[in-house]
Amino acid sequence: MKECIFSKVAGSQIMSIKPYKPGRSLEEVKREFGLKRIIKLASNENPLGPSAKAIQAIRDCTSQIYFYPDGAGQKLRGALSRKLSMDCENIILGNGSDEILSIIARVLLHQGDEAIMATPSFLMYEIGANLSQAKIVSVPLNNFRIDLDKMLGAVTPKTRVVFVANPNNPTGTIVKNEEVETFVGQLPEGILAVFDEAYYEYVEAEDFPQTLDLIRNRPNIIVLRTFSKIYGLAGLRIGYGVAAREIVDILNRARSPFNVNFLAQVAALASLTDEEQVRRSRQLVREEKRFFYSHLRRLGLFFVPTEANFILIEVGKKAKQVEHRLLEKGVIVRGMQAYDLPEFMRVTIGTREQNEEFMRELETTLSS
Ligand SMILES: Cc1ncc(COP(=O)(O)O)c(C=O)c1O
Repeated sequence: MKECIFSKVAGSQIMSIKPYKPGRSLEEVKREFGLKRIIKLASNENPLGPSAKAIQAIRDCTSQIYFYPDGAGQKLRGALSRKLSMDCENIILGNGSDEILSIIARVLLHQGDEAIMATPSFLMYEIGANLSQAKIVSVPLNNFRIDLDKMLGAVTPKTRVVFVANPNNPTGTIVKNEEVETFVGQLPEGILAVFDEAYYEYVEAEDFPQTLDLIRNRPNIIVLRTFSKIYGLAGLRIGYGVAAREIVDILNRARSPFNVNFLAQVAALASLTDEEQVRRSRQLVREEKRFFYSHLRRLGLFFVPTEANFILIEVGKKAKQVEHRLLEKGVIVRGMQAYDLPEFMRVTIGTREQNEEFMRELETTLSS
């Protein structure tokens, strides 16, 4: 691409950002490979889709979309407040939890500040910090797990934010209750700990931290959750953050007034009334991850046991070719080059039929 005159205006830090590369879309892959049927296991969506109640709620209100949405999201925040036993003032809604991450970066990070993240972890943390001209301090995972002690060790007087994805993307591993309690107990008050719990509802481990309880005593924690994953509403873009009301107040100042659209609010509200959809989705992942484990063991492939709805698999030096062969067969998985794990791929846990097809194609590809 030829250099644009505004790239100098934007500055070298903005121009150094590698744009976030989302998983490839169904339509794009269908067109490129002339395929009719695609299995998308690249973006950790819920293969069972959203609650029927959410779809019905959207249908019931399409004629009202000429109204602006409720900028405060009162009803939804009310429902979340009852569900989470927190006050409405503790809750901020976002256009996906991504938006809350970027508001945090915009508001709390400035030129010369530092933000700590594990690597590999969710790429949006780095993008947010770069946009604020702040420096990302990367702390490598320890045996595929986030090392909170090392993250504490990376704190300097310039640190403002620490991003912790729990479960971590792309490894699916968690930091445990005890580790988190020690970590927040030692984190200086002026540093915000962001616990990004996008996959929270899938966790099976009993020692997973109850971060909402920590918020009640600490003003320097925010917990992010989303309707994109287990609730199956990724396309509508809606997530939320829970924090001390003072933090929510600060973030709200940088939020655009109608950041969460009308249909997203309606669908999220209806989703909260459908516990059965959540139970079914959780159950699917619990059963199907064991299907993955047994087949990956049979194929002699290393994988990282997961607490989320995806699994990190080591396929070796041929990973890129394997990913491409799968794509040609209509199975989209996520290559891990951008995460500095070039010999791995991340695969979303699908339905039994999808998982069987993935395994069949993987086996054929590896043996060819
Ligand atoms: C760890 C993590 N955080 C946040 C998100 C973003 O979720 P949302 O769709 O709510 O923006 C993702 C999406 O993949 C994720 O993996």
